[in-house]
Amino acid sequence: MSVVAFAKNGQTALSKGNTILDTAVDRLEKIEWDFVSAKTNYLTHNLHPYPAKFIPQIPNALIQELSSVGETIGDIFCGSGTTLLEALQLKRHAVGIDANPLAALITRAKTTPLSVAQFGVLDAHLSQCRRLAERINPDEGDFFYNGVPFVSSAWRPDPEMCEFWFLPHVVEELAELRALVNAIPDDAVRTLCAVTLSSIIVVVSKQDSDTRYVRREKSLAPGETLSKYIAQLISAIEAVRELTDLIEARFHCTVYDRNILDTPDTEPFDLVVTSPPYPNAYSYHLYHRTRLLWLGADPELFKRIEIGSHRKYSAKGPRRATEETFKSEFETIFQWLRTRLRDRRHACFVIGDSTLSGERIDNASLIAAAGASAGLREVGRFDRNLCATKKAFNPKIGKIKTERILILRKE
Ligand SMILES: C[S@@+](CC[C@H](N)C(=O)[O-])C[C@H]1O[C@@H](n2cnc3c(N)ncnc32)[C@H](O)[C@@H]1O
Repeated sequence: MSVVAFAKNGQTALSKGNTILDTAVDRLEKIEWDFVSAKTNYLTHNLHPYPAKFIPQIPNALIQELSSVGETIGDIFCGSGTTLLEALQLKRHAVGIDANPLAALITRAKTTPLSVAQFGVLDAHLSQCRRLAERINPDEGDFFYNGVPFVSSAWRPDPEMCEFWFLPHVVEELAELRALVNAIPDDAVRTLCAVTLSSIIVVVSKQDSDTRYVRREKSLAPGETLSKYIAQLISAIEAVRELTDLIEARFHCTVYDRNILDTPDTEPFDLVVTSPPYPNAYSYHLYHRTRLLWLGADPELFKRIEIGSHRKYSAKGPRRATEETFKSEFETIFQWLRTRLRDRRHACFVIGDSTLSGERIDNASLIAAAGASAGLREVGRFDRNLCATKKAFNPKIGKIKTERILILRKE
């Protein structure tokens, strides 16, 4: 899976002062960061879609050059856990933080190898789902939906939300599936199945897409929701089998479901690799709303604490967030990060520009300045071109076609 050759000799090399680390940054500068035709869906990377997730080749290259086997890699906005999965497969420990409850769930599912007994529990769950699917006969009316909504007694979120975003038979199938998932006795298996269920929610809802929270009619036959879940579950099991074969049990991943601005008390980091939210680009609480509601999570808390959300930057009046908001949030983050990051180690940020009230904002420079005020000095900055045809690309950030990889070092 390696992208660049692992070029250092571990901790001894790193402790020889700045020269070797400078060489590592020089080597990073020579990388072709666009990774145009790179394969990005290996292992569990494709378990669940996630807007603006970065391609695994970026953290992979940074981790290889700026850390050693056995060290701890942090991602302070871990999203779907791309950095953390790469850290584990490169034999590092991983620590992730994210305020989105769905992000923490996906990351756990993506980074947790399973035992033989747990694969047995998964197989039993898969068989249960298949039996459920076999009982649906659209011509005769299926056993839990006969044209009458709410025939199933299983829990579902708020009926008005369900009616607005989902076809009635889809609600019944989701409710039955959710009940089966909730009954799984093993935590790790239940998490994997909950993430698999979440992964199909937007496709079976009337939500236009992952980054468009608008309604459009879709046609879905009775039974289709179940068959989509079963297909996803089969590929999830396959992916977790690969993960289990590859990841050594001595390397572990810890995920904190927390607001970064609450300065969580984590273990120290030897390297941070992260892609922060861009101001005004995405609203994760909105894109993930239907998924979160089906998981029984509360999107409202996350809505209040989400950094960068389009909702906050487009609000009317004095509550509208500005460039200053983003800057001061990053000053707080760096005051905390300097207590977590070990001395002379790196924090890498992958970020593009934003547009605020028609003006282009250079987020990388903003972050570099906030870092400098906390004693993290810029040692590298590389541009990469974004692939506008990729699903995760947000049309809202429109003309912006490049992003930057910013490398800071704690002095
Ligand atoms: C660009 S995404 C990270 C994507 C990630 N690199 C991946 O590959 O999936 C930015 C993340 O910041 C998270 N975030 C926003 N506000 C936050 C906050 N206050 N505390 C912690 N995480 C937050 C969002 O939930 C989102 O997952």
